[in-house]
Amino acid sequence: MKTNLRTFIKHTAKDFHNQSVNPPVVRASTIIFKNLQEIEKTQKRYLKDPRSGNFDYGRQGTSTTHALQRILQEMEECYKVYLTPTGFGAVFLAVLSVIKPGDEILVTDSVYSPTRMLAQDYLKKFNVKSIFYDPTNFDDLKNKISAKTKLILVENPGSNTFEFQDLKKIVSLAKKHKIYTAIDNTWGTPYLIKPIKLGFDMSIVSATKYYSGHSDVMGGSLAVNKRVFKLVETTNRVTGLRLSPDDAYFILRGIRTLDVRMDKHYSNALKVAKFLSKQKKVIKVCYPYKTNSQRYRLWKKYYSGASGLMGLRIKSKNKSSVKSFINSLKFFGYGYSWGGFESLALYQNQKQLGARSYTNLKKDEHIIRLHIGLEDPSDIINDLKQALKKIK
Ligand SMILES: Cc1ncc(COP(=O)(O)O)c(C=O)c1O
Repeated sequence: MKTNLRTFIKHTAKDFHNQSVNPPVVRASTIIFKNLQEIEKTQKRYLKDPRSGNFDYGRQGTSTTHALQRILQEMEECYKVYLTPTGFGAVFLAVLSVIKPGDEILVTDSVYSPTRMLAQDYLKKFNVKSIFYDPTNFDDLKNKISAKTKLILVENPGSNTFEFQDLKKIVSLAKKHKIYTAIDNTWGTPYLIKPIKLGFDMSIVSATKYYSGHSDVMGGSLAVNKRVFKLVETTNRVTGLRLSPDDAYFILRGIRTLDVRMDKHYSNALKVAKFLSKQKKVIKVCYPYKTNSQRYRLWKKYYSGASGLMGLRIKSKNKSSVKSFINSLKFFGYGYSWGGFESLALYQNQKQLGARSYTNLKKDEHIIRLHIGLEDPSDIINDLKQALKKIK
């Protein structure tokens, strides 16, 4: 019976053997077998079906990691999911799996800044050139394709400025030129959009964020299609990028309520975005709420909802007053990451944004990233209202 995703994530991976609703944490380095034939049987099964899991050593996972992997595979509707110790590990795995010396990759200009560092600086070591494209201009991406382009690395929406791109257009452009595609889908998760079904080869999610939902565990997932499966499988083996069973357990526990939390993040964030858009000091709310905007149109085309993360562009010649706005917030924590149950605020300076080419921040403009949590929205709005008075 085909079940709805909401039902699936509640009822899957029950452990009837141990009579527990959630599968237990199975920790292991050495996996013991009854005899040699059993080891060979496991290895043969893996050779026959590399998606079946190869439990002959702890690095290949245990039943706990495998349960999470299977859930994500269903959610992503993909060929295989790889679990990594962090979300950034999944970005690294995706890129490293397809590149070789002499290649070029095209990267969304507003990518998460560590991804930018990887592309812009670290890949030079492998003689791979990264070219950044304007996420608001499809022709810019198109014009930057060359015979050397191996990968288009999309982040949708972009970090901090939250531009949405026309994903189907990117996929068909890439297919035409036989270029691989990867997308960082941490903002949406496969609850809101399924990139592999749209035609992407790889889809990255930082499980640290909404999957876990409680700001106390790190992890990542990389969903792949059949086309790139062998490349990723090999790279995953040689890099040893694996998630621990304890972390897998917490992520799996968080996923049970992903739908409920995401719906509430969205409804809270929408109320906050509408409130902020009416404030004089706020020049732009980077969130898909304004029905006549390009951002909204592209979001609506692909997503069934939105998350709780948004950007604020604030205009003020007085930088310290913008900082005191943040410091005056009572229900927002100041810290990195997002996707947990609580609201967070972060002032993004030029360095944190990365050396972008297409974010034209004027001297008196500031970007603040807000994560809208699961608190009562009226408390969040009242808090913002009092803090905004600090901006001069
Ligand atoms: C869009 C995006 N992708 C990837 C990551 C990396 O995830 P992690 O912190 O789990 O390594 C982050 C972290 O903030 C992120 O915002």
